[in-house]
Amino acid sequence: MPNKSCIFTIFGATGDLTKRKLIPALYTLYKQQRLPGGCSVVAIGRRQKTSESYREEMKDFMINEMGRPVDSDIWPGFSSLITYHEMNFTDDVGYRSLKELSEGLGGTGNRIYYLAVAPEYFEVIVEKLNEHSMIENKESWQRVIIEKPFGSNLETARRLNESITKVIHEDKIFRIDHYLGKEMLQNILSIRFGNSIFEPLWNHNYIDHVQIISTETLGIGTRGAYYEKTGIIRDMLQNHILQMLTLIAMEPPVNLEAESIRDEKVKVLQALRPFDKESINETFVSGQYGPGIGMAGYRQEDKVDPESITDTFIAVKTFIDNFRWGGVPFFIYAGKRMAEKTTKIIIRFKKLPGINFYEGYRQTEPNVLVIRIQPDEGLFFRINAKNPGNDFSISSVDLDYCQDCGYKGNSPEAYERLILETINDNKALFTRWDELEYSWIFIDSLCEARTGSKLHYPNYEAGGKPPAEAVRLIEKDGRSWWKEEKDEIL
Ligand code: BG6
Repeated sequence: MPNKSCIFTIFGATGDLTKRKLIPALYTLYKQQRLPGGCSVVAIGRRQKTSESYREEMKDFMINEMGRPVDSDIWPGFSSLITYHEMNFTDDVGYRSLKELSEGLGGTGNRIYYLAVAPEYFEVIVEKLNEHSMIENKESWQRVIIEKPFGSNLETARRLNESITKVIHEDKIFRIDHYLGKEMLQNILSIRFGNSIFEPLWNHNYIDHVQIISTETLGIGTRGAYYEKTGIIRDMLQNHILQMLTLIAMEPPVNLEAESIRDEKVKVLQALRPFDKESINETFVSGQYGPGIGMAGYRQEDKVDPESITDTFIAVKTFIDNFRWGGVPFFIYAGKRMAEKTTKIIIRFKKLPGINFYEGYRQTEPNVLVIRIQPDEGLFFRINAKNPGNDFSISSVDLDYCQDCGYKGNSPEAYERLILETINDNKALFTRWDELEYSWIFIDSLCEARTGSKLHYPNYEAGGKPPAEAVRLIEKDGRSWWKEEKDEIL
């Protein structure tokens, strides 16, 4: 069996992602004894700290900021694996001492380098690791996990990719999209291809339209500087939302190998209809939150331009121009500082034809399948059935399956799964370069088509209703955003 022990080296160890996601994920894996023996963590930051103070800081953050219990029997063992290493990401001296430190920590030479840093450092870190011979060791493996955003458009993404792949082979690059680690995203393929009732109907003959809804109650917190550069289009649509869309729309892969799955996802991205100036007002609505009750507006957030025109909300109508989906609209609805945190995918089947079976038949509701991604994980299927009693009347009945009920808290966190998949060298849950390439082509067409559109921001209240145009976008088609009884958003 190959030795899987390794050094997990985090660049950007004092950042939000490391505190909120990476350290808690590594802690849980350690606690559940799923981290291979002999692993250690090197946490790299530019600030001056000792390993002891860094460990304490991480523990306090988990307990006090995240409200996550930390087991006093487990923490000391876990935290002793962490060494804090202060260095500047561009400085050779730092890389020399990192190399010494890593060799001193032993291990077999297996390394995961996690780049949880601003994208401008991706290139230089990879180059320096290469120059200092830390990325090639034939006796063992080295892998680099790269966070998003991978570029800001096709051109910058291409340039970045070219310079990174000059020094490391694609096989060693793990471009992370944490949504791919979510339990219910993994479940999409099982639902689609594990049920004989869905796949034959999963096309334009039976599906009226698809909705992807992804709303958050959170604003942008301390990430104003980052968000000003990305906005919701680059922060959510280019990656997480398009990943959900490809899983819903792809053809069955020939097997579950990473390349087979990714081949099919790429074909969906290639078939996405680009936006154009002529129809942009029919296919795209954007928004930005203003102040709400007890909440600042986006323009008042830290490190945000007081006249910013960055989008924090979008509603999109798009098409996948291939045989399966021709003519089926895909509607996307996503925003920050909305009334509710929810991510779900809605498959709305077509209405029955108006045959004269009996009068009430014409009023039946269409079938709906809702895949709940988060916070509740599960499935909801709406069918029609006869009402109990003597009358022959029909109404809709909801078959509701809760995936995480009874397992609450045990569904693995996305980052836990993705760290293990990296150790196991399984790339199915990571983004291949051509997926990125085609997603950027789609996003670039959107950005170009909307150039010059007049923006009257802010146009929705923090914690309130979406911009009215978002509702019109779907209603003018005679359709409406999916709303469950408990939903407050739409
Ligand atoms: C991140 C975005 O990738 O995903 C954040 O940068 C967003 O802005 C987050 O809040 C949403 O992730 P989740 O798992 O909370 O839905």
